[in-house]
Amino acid sequence: METKRTRWYKDAVFYQIYPRSFCDSNGDGIGDLQGIISKLDYLKDLGINAVWLSPIYASPNDDNGYDISDYRQIMPEFGTLDDFKEMVSEMKKRDIKLVMDLVVNHTSDEHIWFQESKKGKDNPYRDYYIWKKGKGKDGRKVPNNWTSRFTGSAWEYDETTDEFYLHLYSKKQPDLNWENPKVRQEVIDICEYWFALGVDGFRCDVISCISKNQDFPDGKYNLVLRGDEHFTLGPRIHEFLNELYEKSWGLHDSMIVAEAIGCGYKDAPDLIGESRRELDTMITFELMEVDMFMNFLPMKFNLKKFKKVQRNWQELPADCWPTLYYENHDQPRSVSRYGNGEGIYKKQLAQMLAVSYMMLRGTPYVYQGQEIGMSNIKLKDEEYLDIASIQVFDLIKKYFRPIMPIARKIMAKRARDNARTPMQWTSEPNAGFTTGTPWMKINPNYADRNVEDQKKNPNSELNFYKKLIAFRKGNAVIRDGSFTEYFPNSKKIYCFERALKNKKYLVICNFKEESINVNVDLLGFKGAKLVMSNYAKQDEILGDAIRLGVYEAVIYEYSNTEN
Ligand code: NOJ
Repeated sequence: METKRTRWYKDAVFYQIYPRSFCDSNGDGIGDLQGIISKLDYLKDLGINAVWLSPIYASPNDDNGYDISDYRQIMPEFGTLDDFKEMVSEMKKRDIKLVMDLVVNHTSDEHIWFQESKKGKDNPYRDYYIWKKGKGKDGRKVPNNWTSRFTGSAWEYDETTDEFYLHLYSKKQPDLNWENPKVRQEVIDICEYWFALGVDGFRCDVISCISKNQDFPDGKYNLVLRGDEHFTLGPRIHEFLNELYEKSWGLHDSMIVAEAIGCGYKDAPDLIGESRRELDTMITFELMEVDMFMNFLPMKFNLKKFKKVQRNWQELPADCWPTLYYENHDQPRSVSRYGNGEGIYKKQLAQMLAVSYMMLRGTPYVYQGQEIGMSNIKLKDEEYLDIASIQVFDLIKKYFRPIMPIARKIMAKRARDNARTPMQWTSEPNAGFTTGTPWMKINPNYADRNVEDQKKNPNSELNFYKKLIAFRKGNAVIRDGSFTEYFPNSKKIYCFERALKNKKYLVICNFKEESINVNVDLLGFKGAKLVMSNYAKQDEILGDAIRLGVYEAVIYEYSNTEN
């Protein structure tokens, strides 16, 4: 009998843990599973009811765990399988669901499959990966012009068999060959292994790229990234996803969320429409691309474009469920990105941003530290530790050294390292993250931005997040209500309505570092009562106009009891 899929994620608020930087229990400077266990009460108190845990599997850490060498082992730095079991059981006690990262577009080159695969063309594991003959007389030219997302060619030559293998990320992350049914069965077995240990779902890394055009044609010209059109939503993607759903994911009361790189809202119905039996929801980069050029270079933040992306997702058919997020371990901090995260209104900014996405339809994610307004960090060249940053710097130093000062400015804004600084728990040395030497520099602003202090302050970012999450919980209007946007052309405010039956909310967020007046007389909310604000306002009743302070967010409720 098929398990009933309750779609619990529609009532979930997720918290993403990047384990390396969350909490270190044993003083080695690296976060670990016991550290996570020690903070579960904190998470419960915050009100979240699901965790997305970035990879904790065995890995040589070329890409901090996104290069897996054994899918059934825990990385020793993080703990043991017993620690994992304890963590799951402690989460269950607190009604916290656990969604694990599933990284199966590629493995580590240290995975036994790859070690075998490279031994010879007749090795049983040869076809687990994508091997191609080189071009040119000596066969030493890359098979096509595809690029790695971490710079350079996506192909690496291997002498043993005189062939190249494909790696869309670092050369230590060879791509699996999904055409091979044995690979797909391995993935199904991995999922079943973790389901049996009590996990509730998977966040599927780069899953939109698993099906490659088998002709491996050159990609259209692009200075930085080439080949995407031949592997993003490739020819057999729907077949592969459906197979996983039928043989594993759909047999459990699970949640499967795709990291759908290269995809947009238009792709959603085919990937996450409920009748498709493929995925439940997807994380795309559309919102992240609003303030970027060529997927990387920072551009001025444009609220109008930003709102358009959110609108597209809010207006999807009813059977498509959106993901709501501003931050994760690959993105700079939202307070540094969408406003002045170091200014005197940094608290109001963090709180306003929370309202601007948590009141929408979909499953919200809070990335560790977002709830206390953690911001980007200033690093020296040698303090960048992410492989992507290191490869970008190496490339520039090698070929474009004179533009290093510009590169530094860009990286300060864009580097993934910004999101990976250790969690700021207290104002004690090392922010209470570790008693040892932290694996990565801690943001010096921890002295005035940490969990312990914010717990004590009723008006802190943390306590505001807590209030907002509690407000969302079980709220049918936020979960199921319609979405109507007002002032879509405004570059200052984000204003929308959520409505269900006889209740509706008006949400207004001021994205500007200045006070503004908003005329609301035509919105049909006269007499609505203020239910939440990040300013010291209470019990206010809405009239024709409202004055919003710097980064102010307000939620008004209107109930029409006559209907
Ligand atoms: C997406 C992950 O979020 C990122 O951290 C990683 O580098 C790539 N996928 C490759 O696995």
